[in-house]
Amino acid sequence: MKKIWMVIALMSLQCFGNEKLILTVGTDSLSAIKAQVSVDLEILKQGDEISLIRLDKEKMFKLSELMHHDFGRCPGFTKYFSEAEAYEDLASLQIKSSVQGLFTLDYKIDQHLLVKPLVEQIDEVSTVQIIAQLSNYPTRYHKSKTGLEAVMWLKSHWESLGQGRSDVTVELVKHRDTPQPSVILTIEGTENPEQVIVVGGHVDSIARGFFGGISKIAPGADDNASGIATMTEVIRVLMSNSYRSNKTIKFMAYAAEEIGLVGSREIAKSFKKAGTQVVGVMQLDMTNFKGSDEDIVLMTDYTNKAQNTFITSIIDTYVKVKWGTDKCGYACSDHASWTNAGFPASMPFESKVKDMNRKIHSKKDTLAVSKNHAFHAIKFAKMAIAYVVELDR
Ligand code: BES
Ligand code: ZN
Repeated sequence: MKKIWMVIALMSLQCFGNEKLILTVGTDSLSAIKAQVSVDLEILKQGDEISLIRLDKEKMFKLSELMHHDFGRCPGFTKYFSEAEAYEDLASLQIKSSVQGLFTLDYKIDQHLLVKPLVEQIDEVSTVQIIAQLSNYPTRYHKSKTGLEAVMWLKSHWESLGQGRSDVTVELVKHRDTPQPSVILTIEGTENPEQVIVVGGHVDSIARGFFGGISKIAPGADDNASGIATMTEVIRVLMSNSYRSNKTIKFMAYAAEEIGLVGSREIAKSFKKAGTQVVGVMQLDMTNFKGSDEDIVLMTDYTNKAQNTFITSIIDTYVKVKWGTDKCGYACSDHASWTNAGFPASMPFESKVKDMNRKIHSKKDTLAVSKNHAFHAIKFAKMAIAYVVELDR
């Protein structure tokens, strides 16, 4: 027995050694990190909300624990592959507010006649079926065979929804840093095709096994089969009503979010490079766990304030459920990729962070946690379809 522990100790020494990590964390957590994780913490750049730090890799578990217990954040930091990449993100965050000013969208709500019947057709049964289908793959981990199968299934399902429409295309987008492709369904705009509305969420899943390894079982029903199902329901209703769009609408199922926003980062960067005019991004990541009194919680960090306000009006007008606000405290999902690229993004979330679904990133993230229903998720589908159609005017 002693021998086994010695081998494990030696292995972890080999794995972690003295390697340093480049991370961004909430500035409000710096003093706690210094006091409880590492006295010789290096603060590379301290911002008002977010700071860049360098930390020994071996301190990562302690940092996760602190973030989880004292700040209710999970994990509460963003890891970067290089210092250059981290600085690039921080720089774009600092100019974020001025970039937001470039889009003088007037967020009006005046499409009641069009929106109301669409909202009424959002269906719980169709939504729950997609969550079941996706969470039935043992894992959708970005490097796994079943993670690729899930992507291919989604592509053909979206194709079947768009069948017979020459303005609708479904494509796979290959990536540099993951073997998993993303899926994009595009409805080409008729009047202003150069303006693009994005609704997205990640298709991959992850679960941690023993000693921080990757488990082969990761149903990811809430994180994030729920977001993909929510989006798919919006597509289904738009298609069955033969909805033609003025602007271009793109639904995106991102690859490899769980290892560091990989798919969305590459896509958002390529849109920025191409000079594409993305007028709004809605991120759907975790929509089916009702943990709080508030039904829809808008994250206020790494998001666009004006668009968030617009979405709260959309909720009041068409969904009529209770909404609130909260902060992730770090770049917790793909909306951050779009914000970092200078586009207005929002992240409506299923609960307050303190009330979040604690089963995510484990083999227990199943549909059973939500009693095999999608009643929470359909509030997000109603909001998303109203958002798309109102923004499409
Ligand atoms: N769905 C989560 C993000 C999330 C979790 C938001 C809890 C709000 C509350 C997402 O899939 C995720 O796991 N993100 C990673 C960060 C990413 C940069 C690897 C995380 O939070 O660990
Ligand atoms: Zn996750």
